[in-house]
Amino acid sequence: MNLILLGAPGAGKGTQAEVICEKLKIPSISTGNIIREALKNGTELGLKAKSYMDSGALVPDEVVIAIIKERLAQEDCKNGFILDGFPRTVPQAEALDAMGIVIHKVLDIEVPDETIQKRLSGRRVCESCGASYHLDFKPSAKEGVCDKCAGKLVIRKDDQPETVRERLKTYHESTEPLCDYYKKTGKLVVINGQEEVAATSALVLKALEA
Ligand code: AP5
Repeated sequence: MNLILLGAPGAGKGTQAEVICEKLKIPSISTGNIIREALKNGTELGLKAKSYMDSGALVPDEVVIAIIKERLAQEDCKNGFILDGFPRTVPQAEALDAMGIVIHKVLDIEVPDETIQKRLSGRRVCESCGASYHLDFKPSAKEGVCDKCAGKLVIRKDDQPETVRERLKTYHESTEPLCDYYKKTGKLVVINGQEEVAATSALVLKALEA
């Protein structure tokens, strides 16, 4: 199954992508994670993306479209994939269509902006493996230490309140129009993402069975 996860920053796309990945045994592809990895490794892509990402703006379409094209051509995507954070603009969705990629379902995880601020202020990520935690909703066993690799947990640079406001603005302007884009295809399923993680996961898995 080829899936897209839509939703505002902090709506829980990454969290739910992990659940689907586990259930369907298909890879989860996060453009945000790919760009952060490039940044960590100091590659040309990382350097190009840094200023956009740090300010809460979107990285230019042509850059992310090239990333996705290359990633989807890999062997592990043959039996399906989850796109987490792509497409984020109508031109990105059109580029995906132009690649001849068939999308079976688009899950839009809806969460109000006020809840987003709270979630992102409590998020901590592992600086080594990228695993994501939350101080209240998904704490690590030992404070400040990653359960998976014992790496140090840090605040993501773009999770500062000012940058979150900018990311939400960008989301409403550039990404929300994708809901209409996919509604027209009959593939959009809206998921209430306001409840606790397990409740949202139950809705997500039910939507995949329908
Ligand atoms: P990206 O990394 O994709 O960030 P994002 O979309 O802003 O998403 P997040 O990772 O912040 O949130 P999420 O929805 O995955 O939530 P999560 O599950 O972590 O992109 C970063 C940047 O890269 C962009 O700003 C842009 O610059 C660039 N970029 C990436 N893709 C691009 C593209 N296609 N085009 C252009 N630029 C692009 O949850 C958040 C927190 O809440 C966690 O702590 C979690 O534990 C907690 N939580 C989750 N669900 C719940 C729940 N139900 N209840 C309570 N807490 C919860």
